Amino acid sequence: MTTDLAAKLRSGTQQAHSNAEHTEFMSRFVKGAIDKNTIGKLLGNLYCVYSQLEAELECHQAHPVVGNLYFPELNRRENLEKDLAVLYGDNWQSKVFPTLNAQAYISRIREVSAAQPELLIAHAYTRYMGDLSGGQALKKIAKGVLGLREDECINFYEFTQIEDLNQFKGKYRDALNNLILDSFLADRIVEEANIAFGLNIKMMGDLAEKNTAVSV
Ligand code: HEM
Repeated sequence: MTTDLAAKLRSGTQQAHSNAEHTEFMSRFVKGAIDKNTIGKLLGNLYCVYSQLEAELECHQAHPVVGNLYFPELNRRENLEKDLAVLYGDNWQSKVFPTLNAQAYISRIREVSAAQPELLIAHAYTRYMGDLSGGQALKKIAKGVLGLREDECINFYEFTQIEDLNQFKGKYRDALNNLILDSFLADRIVEEANIAFGLNIKMMGDLAEKNTAVSV
């Protein structure tokens, strides 16, 4: 029996998605009205968040529920490392720090992973489905901001191990629907996805602030 979790997540986070889309940061991003420093700061925060998320997902890959959402072809950490090396140079690790709200986001991922690992599904859904969807539109804008040529890329937005992104999203939704969960836990996952959207919104708030970027 399917939990219908994919549809529950989509409808249950619709308002949160709209809030995320309409943040000051995203409104500027879609207009290309951001600079190289801000993209560097965004990718630096995402590197810290994905490092934690992917370590926790890997740790629970044999978990009877969470393990079904383990898709290493989605992993972003190594791609972000390549981008940060290009932006900040070989010693990028000494220049990349999570902003305050990125730190709160990372703590939340660590906490749910320890207390109720099924809730990691909400965090994976919020980021990866976003990267596979709106992220693909943002990719073109970000490339323009960094002045990249057609044959150059921002690795963060590239999923080279996935042939057809739309087909993959269908596979991901099927995996969500096939999870064996009671309705209480399904509702908790939707609630946690709303928390994940909120954490993303706050993290974007850090990026909309002026004069806090590490210079690229
Ligand atoms: C300007 C910014 C954004 C735009 C234009 C945008 C656009 C979209 C679009 C068009 C879809 C539907 C894709 C489809 O069904 O195939 C989508 C889905 C999604 N987006 Fe965004 N998005 C934006 C920002 C974000 C942010 C900041 C997040 C979270 C961090 C996010 C998370 C998601 C998720 C989780 C889905 C999957 C919904 C579902 O089908 O269950 N998006 N986005």
